[in-house]
Amino acid sequence: MNAAREIRMTSFVVNGMKREVQAPTDTPLLYVLRNDLELSGPQFGCGMAQCGACSVLLNGKEVRSCITTLGSVTGKEVTTLEGLSARWAKQKGLSEAEAIHPVQAAWIEEQTPLCGFCQNGMMIKATELLEKNASPTVSEIKEAFTGGISPHLCRCGSYTAIIQAVQRASATMSKRSEA
Ligand code: FES
Ligand code: FES
Repeated sequence: MNAAREIRMTSFVVNGMKREVQAPTDTPLLYVLRNDLELSGPQFGCGMAQCGACSVLLNGKEVRSCITTLGSVTGKEVTTLEGLSARWAKQKGLSEAEAIHPVQAAWIEEQTPLCGFCQNGMMIKATELLEKNASPTVSEIKEAFTGGISPHLCRCGSYTAIIQAVQRASATMSKRSEA
């Protein structure tokens, strides 16, 4: 016999705003973000923590939202792709209206996406990496994208463009951290 699912109000912060969601506590965070909060940046790829398309930052650390339960994020801070620019603005004391996160700017300038499906996770991973290490080497970039719970996968093979975009974002972020 299946145990009854616990339904309760979960309170957490998403992109700087307190949110409350009434749902079973074992609901994947990805479903809550996309269906309840209408944030379409995180994508459903494999649903098994094997591709990275659903990644978000949880208290600054990249997690796979497809296997992260709603209950486990109680009181924590989630940043999705939609919140990256505001995150950067807050970190640097910039006006939110004018700020674009250097990772997103670099992705545009390098024209990195092909079909684009994986790129949410790629930008989230790049942000996590560059917040810890603003000037990573190529091998550190490769390690970031291939280590952890599983590699970030791109079925279109945009890996070289991703490395170039991380390096471009790194040039901006390392300059900013020296300033
Ligand atoms: S959808 Fe979450 S890792 Fe693939
Ligand atoms: S750009 Fe198509 S899956 Fe990565």
